Amino acid sequence: MMQKLKFCWGLIAILLSVSGGVGGNGESYISAIGDPGMRRDGLRVAIESWNQCNEVGEEAPNMGSPRMADCFDVNYFGDIKLIHKVQKWQNKLGISNSHDLVTNKSVDLFAAWKEIYLGQKCQVIDFPKPWQFWMIMLKSGNMDTLAAICPEYGKKAKPFKQTSRFPCFGKGCMNMPSMYHNYTTIYQNEKDGNLMMKGRFYGSWDLEIDDEDEVDKAVDMNDISCYSVTWEKPVGKGSWVFHHLLKTSSKYPWLMLYLRSDATSGFSGGYHYSTRGMSKIVPKSPNFKVRFTLEIKRGGGPKSQFYLMDMGSCWKNDGRPCDGDVTSDVTRYSEIIINPEIEAWCKPTRRDQCPPYHTFANGTRVHRNDTAHFPYDAYHTYCAPGNANYFEQPANTCDPYSNPQPQEILQILPHPVWGEYGYPTKKGEGWVGDPRTWELDVGRLSQSLHFYQDPGTTPVERYWPSIDLGTEIYISNVGQIAEWTVSHFDIIIPKHALLNSDKGAS
Ligand SMILES: *[C@@H]1O[C@H](CO)[C@@H](O)[C@H](O)[C@H]1NC(C)=O
Ligand SMILES: *[C@@H]1O[C@H](CO)[C@@H](O)[C@H](O)[C@H]1NC(C)=O
Ligand SMILES: *[C@@H]1O[C@H](CO)[C@@H](O)[C@H](O)[C@H]1NC(C)=O
Ligand SMILES: *[C@@H]1O[C@H](CO)[C@@H](O)[C@H](O)[C@H]1NC(C)=O
Repeated sequence: MMQKLKFCWGLIAILLSVSGGVGGNGESYISAIGDPGMRRDGLRVAIESWNQCNEVGEEAPNMGSPRMADCFDVNYFGDIKLIHKVQKWQNKLGISNSHDLVTNKSVDLFAAWKEIYLGQKCQVIDFPKPWQFWMIMLKSGNMDTLAAICPEYGKKAKPFKQTSRFPCFGKGCMNMPSMYHNYTTIYQNEKDGNLMMKGRFYGSWDLEIDDEDEVDKAVDMNDISCYSVTWEKPVGKGSWVFHHLLKTSSKYPWLMLYLRSDATSGFSGGYHYSTRGMSKIVPKSPNFKVRFTLEIKRGGGPKSQFYLMDMGSCWKNDGRPCDGDVTSDVTRYSEIIINPEIEAWCKPTRRDQCPPYHTFANGTRVHRNDTAHFPYDAYHTYCAPGNANYFEQPANTCDPYSNPQPQEILQILPHPVWGEYGYPTKKGEGWVGDPRTWELDVGRLSQSLHFYQDPGTTPVERYWPSIDLGTEIYISNVGQIAEWTVSHFDIIIPKHALLNSDKGAS
């Protein structure tokens, strides 16, 4: 995958020089994504749901495979009309009702197939590559350890006793949520007369509520989980505004909801099947920035790890690109958590929770043993890939079950050391009551962060097939609600980076 990305960057930059724009510092840039700034009327959006190990396991009754899409073109002639690309029966496809199209496949493979299928329906021809959709991602952290459904570091796991680390109320606790859909429609806003477009996906993991009108009210019901994503935009102007809501219940105390810009092919962060997405150019460190407007209305409680920015990639410990072999591929994640209630676990007394070193923006590196200089408060936690042989002790290895492959995670917190990259420097920045438009130098930051590689191997070029934001409400005893909006999302690459990189590559 990575080889293919390298083709003729110079040519891409020249051809794209007609598009793009100029940043605040006068530098010209191009967008890496299909819908720069979320301004395109003809929306492309899809939804996916994952269990604890990023699979389906079992489809929810009557819901089909948990992949759906809402994609349309706008016909502006005469009465404005939306021409939908994905029909209801296609969104409903599942292993149980797909006898004609695909037979004899596992529900996991079927969902991967359905994503590609929906991608074909939604695809927009563009340069340098076609693109398909924004991806709304849902995940529940419940894990049935007795059923040993999730592999351990990519290998078959043995059953073990349920612990508080992995919630599960009993058999079937890893179920997929219900998934209801209001196709995008046009309506006239009574206040300003604007023509508006609006659509929605929503559902609940608590499947005993199985009526769409009831699920619609789940946010106000006692101890019923739910999610909802609504998108809205005036025709011909402005940005789409994605309005997200996520609520936990006692049976589903660990839930995630993200809006992702994934690669249009290859593996995106955490997904070991070929993916479809929005990033027609996969951004590469250090040369890209991410812009968006975020308003957090409700935080989701003290355990809500709201990721202002989450990036996912994959490479093997020896530096080779991932190839789908889940025993040696390693997913790499880094997130900045902006909930001010989340504390640094990395401390002088808990060096196992810190990366081995920190690199300042000026290139100076300090070891975590250097208590006078290491910025402990800048790190929530670090965990090393469980299949790595040479990481520095003391170390904490990542959860072996919550991905199809081993993983490495580096979570950071607002701190002055990140100010250089446009990241929040103080707790509370960008949190509830402080909506902001961000321009994060994710490229340069991600180049400076520590990620594991075997000693003596060539440092990998860091490509980020998944760039997303949203929240992970970690095991919470009471029903917690997070609510936020995202608009004007873009990933931008300076043109000089396309012209100067990979010189001599064919
Ligand atoms: C279909 O399923 C059967 C039984 O599980 C298996 O033996 C067979 O190889 C499968 N065929 C295909 C084409 O996957
Ligand atoms: C969604 O569709 C349902 C059923 O068709 C309808 O009752 C409801 O008003 C719609 N909701 C929105 C937000 O459009
Ligand atoms: C780099 O920055 C760090 C932190 O601000 C500072 O302590 C260090 O002296 C700087 N190094 C150089 C070479 O300027
Ligand atoms: C850091 O401290 C630990 C514990 O004292 C020690 O084992 C290790 O060798 C030190 N590492 C470096 C690079 O100084």
